[in-house]
Amino acid sequence: MFLMQKATDITESDLARVFAFPATSAPTVRATMVASIDGAATIDGRSGILGGDGDQLVFHTMRRLADAIVVGAKTAILEGYGPAKSDDDTPPPTLVLTSRSLDIPDDFTTAAAPNVLIATCASAPADARERLTAAGATLVDCGTDDVDPAALVAELASRGLNRIDIEGGPRLLASFAAAGVLDQLILTVSPTLALGDAPRIAHGAEVPLPDQELPLPFRLPRPMRATTVLGDDDGFLYQLWETVRDGDATAGR
Ligand SMILES: NC(=O)c1ccc[n+]([C@@H]2O[C@H](COP(=O)([O-])OP(=O)(O)OC[C@H]3O[C@@H](n4cnc5c(N)ncnc54)[C@H](OP(=O)(O)O)[C@@H]3O)[C@@H](O)[C@H]2O)c1
Repeated sequence: MFLMQKATDITESDLARVFAFPATSAPTVRATMVASIDGAATIDGRSGILGGDGDQLVFHTMRRLADAIVVGAKTAILEGYGPAKSDDDTPPPTLVLTSRSLDIPDDFTTAAAPNVLIATCASAPADARERLTAAGATLVDCGTDDVDPAALVAELASRGLNRIDIEGGPRLLASFAAAGVLDQLILTVSPTLALGDAPRIAHGAEVPLPDQELPLPFRLPRPMRATTVLGDDDGFLYQLWETVRDGDATAGR
């Protein structure tokens, strides 16, 4: 069966309600990403060109709702991330940079700012670890050779950071999706065919194809279902997808 829902006007102030984290004390891991209609996560090596005013609004609303923002160190350096800020009196979210190599240049001062964590792994080079620690950075080990997404979520939860927003990039998102710890995806679809050979929003890690005798959606790898779809006057779509897990009684409805 197909569904066509009646349009409802959504104002800027409604966004926080529409995209609220689930009311649970357990950790919720969501990703906030943008892609072109044909699935490109970047144009000219950056995601910024794909966005618009509405996308920025959604992006910043997601930040306000989160306790922790997790981003690959390379993306944070490339996109010039500063520490997360708060618009009001509430504490800002913690910015978590992930890196195996700790290849973070000294002039990227965000790495050593307060309220910033670097999530790394035991095999990270000792000299880089010492350099960053001496500069004032806080490092946490969450795995042996990679940052293990489940270990990172447990580490953040132990710090009371349960609403987790992953801002990419594509390799980091793929590792979370492959590990099975991604609960939600907020996807902006930018009204363009980007062409070219840019990565998709989840790019890299692979998961085995499920048994093709299973019913939909369980025969799909990492199935999700869209629970909310918004559009704006510029032609962008904003989609809230939720992971469907084995035994989810609402799957397929
Ligand atoms: N469309 C979007 O919504 C969106 C969002 C964000 C970024 N982007 C774009 O994506 C591009 C970058 O793509 P990318 O896939 O290379 O970025 P990425 O996902 O940020 O992955 C590379 C960075 O993340 C770290 N990393 C990734 N997985 C890790 C893991 N399991 N454990 C530890 N560290 C991990 C890497 O650290 P090490 O190399 O040190 O291991 C590296 O710093 C940029 O062009 C950026 O603009 C797009």
